[in-house]
Amino acid sequence: RTIGHPSPRWLLGLSLLKMAWLGGFPGGLREILDPRSCLLLASLPSTPSPTERFLGAKLPSSEHLSVADATWLALNVVSGGGSFSSSQPIGVTKIAKSVIAPLADQNISVFMLSTYQTDFILVRERDLPFVTHTLSSEFTILRVVNGETVAAENLGITNGFVKPKMVQRPVIHPLSSPSNRFCVTSLDPDTLPTVATLLMDVMFYSNGVKDPLASGDDCDHIRFFSFSLIEGYISLVMDVQTQQRFPSNLLFTSASGELWKMVRIGGQPLGFDECGIVAQISEPLAAADIPAYYISTFKFDHALVPEENINGVISALKVSQAEKH
Ligand code: ARG
Repeated sequence: RTIGHPSPRWLLGLSLLKMAWLGGFPGGLREILDPRSCLLLASLPSTPSPTERFLGAKLPSSEHLSVADATWLALNVVSGGGSFSSSQPIGVTKIAKSVIAPLADQNISVFMLSTYQTDFILVRERDLPFVTHTLSSEFTILRVVNGETVAAENLGITNGFVKPKMVQRPVIHPLSSPSNRFCVTSLDPDTLPTVATLLMDVMFYSNGVKDPLASGDDCDHIRFFSFSLIEGYISLVMDVQTQQRFPSNLLFTSASGELWKMVRIGGQPLGFDECGIVAQISEPLAAADIPAYYISTFKFDHALVPEENINGVISALKVSQAEKH
């Protein structure tokens, strides 16, 4: 969806997407479209009953489904024309300085979803005027409503937050690094039927079942599986054990087929109001030119970095963490 006239550097498409997003996380995440195509963030209990498993299809919240009390819009950066160098690092690293940091400086809470294809930054609908104002100096901001592209107008409204002069951003939340190695993959939607039962098994029925391939006493192992279907594009993030359950040659991976290690952010659930968490992680990654995927879930955030970088990343973030006071 690259859309014409790239006057400022990039275009920021504010799309109302067809988006389905499922994850078999501990505590699970369901990403569901509400009737006005805004996004609601919701979570199911970690061991849903068979009926609860499909509750995600019917918002609003019940005693079994927690729904964050805001609607969210998905932004995504579309490179505009030739001025965009193709050697840019992928993922959040690419947008850390231009999008993530300015929003954090302006005290705007975001929710990140990196996929195989692109990165989505979700912002609360009510913050949209501030988002537009904050990013309009660098971006042409377009809204896609019912397939129609319209310029999002900058009303010049700020949230009154004055950006602190010094922008050192220590990492606030505890970090951990699970032992799993992950791959970021995609799937031709036409082949979806052949793996539908496998997907359902992975997402809903293998919960809590110890993977026989993972060493039995591996307590650093995390159960993490992310499936998203956004505007017809499928993206799956899974560990190598799970990947091995898929028929070979079905999943697309990047040519280099690299594996990723995770930095999991958060001790207590992170909530939805706090700002700057994504920035605290993505800015140091951008400074070191390390590509990264970043997936926020209902409770926690997860950054994926190339496995050869994980030790360096963890130690750099730990240094930043120590600078808290
Ligand atoms: N709102 C956080 C930020 O602006 C990121 C999301 C954290 N919350 C969560 N439930 N995953 O950096």
